Amino acid sequence: MHYHILTLFPEMVLSGLKTSILGRAEDNGYITIEATNIRDFSEDKHRHVDDYPYGGGAGMVMQPEPIYKAYKSIEEKIEAAGRKKPRVLYMTPQGQVFNQNLAEELAKEEDLVFLCGHYEGVDERILEEIVTDTMSIGDYVLTGGELPAMVMIDAISRMVPGVLSNQVSGEFESFHDNLLEYPQYTRPVEYHGKRVPDVLLSGHHANIEKWRREKSIERTLKWRPDLLADAVLSKKEREYLDKIQ
Ligand code: ADE
Repeated sequence: MHYHILTLFPEMVLSGLKTSILGRAEDNGYITIEATNIRDFSEDKHRHVDDYPYGGGAGMVMQPEPIYKAYKSIEEKIEAAGRKKPRVLYMTPQGQVFNQNLAEELAKEEDLVFLCGHYEGVDERILEEIVTDTMSIGDYVLTGGELPAMVMIDAISRMVPGVLSNQVSGEFESFHDNLLEYPQYTRPVEYHGKRVPDVLLSGHHANIEKWRREKSIERTLKWRPDLLADAVLSKKEREYLDKIQ
């Protein structure tokens, strides 16, 4: 997976993404992360990339040409490497709300371009010309698209084979089968008067699995009942849900 980030703040995204698990994934060749500074493609001597909005109003709007040129520089590299034209994701609170299913879908791409906007927005014409997907990370407004791009890259990378050393953990965490994750415990067996549930100490794998699924169902009912409509449950598990409901 090759990530390409179009941004005015390359150091912000790179410092966040080149550490920890993603940093190691890049060192090991599972992903590459490259940030392109849109300002490097500015056409005026003061390196401006924004201007006043036609029709008036507050704030500034990012101009189309520097973004176009920055994007083309990426597209050319991808084509020179013999790969297909990338999906271009524009980060905006007006976009489709990102979720785990989208993370899994996007993880199958070879290249992804993230366009991070700033100021009051981006000239509509460049969005029409290069953007394939508009993406939001939730119903709140941030100061720019960098944090959303970083959030998405983190979630997508977990789904790229090889990035997590223990590949099963990617599937078995929260949202697997649309359920929240079961509670986890480690040593000591007793902490502040609270004991680890006996079943987890029993070594009986079938019982442990059953207990964990039941806890996942209980938690989802309590904290995110909206997820249950699409939960993947066996007949017995559905009966359990009916019982606790
Ligand atoms: N830019 C500003 N707010 C955003 C959000 N919630 N999601 C994606 N991009 C954004």
